[in-house]
Amino acid sequence: MAESITKGCPDPARWTGRTLRLLDQRCLPARETYVDCERWEDVADAIANMVVRGAPAIGVAAAFGLALAARSNTGLAGLALAGERLKLARPTAVNLAWAVDRVLARCGDESSLFDDVLQQALSIQAEDLRANHAMARHATECLQGNVNVYTHCNTGSLATAGFGTALGVVRQLQAEGRLGDVFVGETRPWLQGARLTAWELAMDGIQPTLVVDSAAASIMRAGRIDVVITGADRITADGDVLNKIGTYGLAVLARHHGLRMMVVAPMSTVDMNATSASEIEIEERPSDEITTWAGQRHAPQDIRVFNPVFDATPYALIDWIVTEQGVFQPAMI
Ligand code: MRU
Repeated sequence: MAESITKGCPDPARWTGRTLRLLDQRCLPARETYVDCERWEDVADAIANMVVRGAPAIGVAAAFGLALAARSNTGLAGLALAGERLKLARPTAVNLAWAVDRVLARCGDESSLFDDVLQQALSIQAEDLRANHAMARHATECLQGNVNVYTHCNTGSLATAGFGTALGVVRQLQAEGRLGDVFVGETRPWLQGARLTAWELAMDGIQPTLVVDSAAASIMRAGRIDVVITGADRITADGDVLNKIGTYGLAVLARHHGLRMMVVAPMSTVDMNATSASEIEIEERPSDEITTWAGQRHAPQDIRVFNPVFDATPYALIDWIVTEQGVFQPAMI
């Protein structure tokens, strides 16, 4: 049976037959607008400018970007060039490079290049959706009884090919009738938690509680959470996890309060070429993401800003890494 994406939630990336149609996540939840990418360069820009976000979703988008490149008749050399440029759009989430490398490695015949690349992009999308459902089933087997969850960033249908990584687990718990409270950290500065996760969950009839990121410690201390569940942008061979800035802090807090920390990500997020997190480039984004709000500056003019958008959580702070292949202790990865 084909697994479906979340009821009511629009596809983050859809092949229309001629273009890649991306839901513009920058406009949510206020407006549902779309960006139609006709060239691979449009896809690279959309990834860099946060139209489409989340590790698996940018991998899917990049694969369709290669299909657009293949259609432009520049052959294998043109495809490889587009692949290199797409990979540069965002450096930390490995799914982007993984998708590009996988497509390039599997095409060789110039006469059917477009059809081959398009088929691969569609497969990557379908496989990610299946992986999300499998991960959710594996993950809930680790969790006993009614479960109160804290989650961070967006890990749902919008960040993947559908259903979600960490949010897939929340959805699965709901389906099993075992979902307690869901606390969603707003996720400064792009507010993926407030703008995307809260919106997606409400569509499923799940009413989360939105909190500022700095509320996590006191909520844990009050005993209102059983487990922190996040996704990942890259998992190294050692089991270190790179994910949205703030994840490391949540893992430290969870350990301090005797709570469990679960990371849910498909195998396409596992980077066996990186031994530990220290080898990975952490993306830094422009300072105005922090110094301004809705176009209004609220910080002093010449303030120095440091805006890393991901952090690294050492494997020792993680209890479970869940992939479509099962549940692992980080050291087993
Ligand atoms: O900067 P973003 O919005 O692309 O970051 C997204 C995240 O960090 C997600 O938590 C991550 O990709 C994990 S799972 C979809």
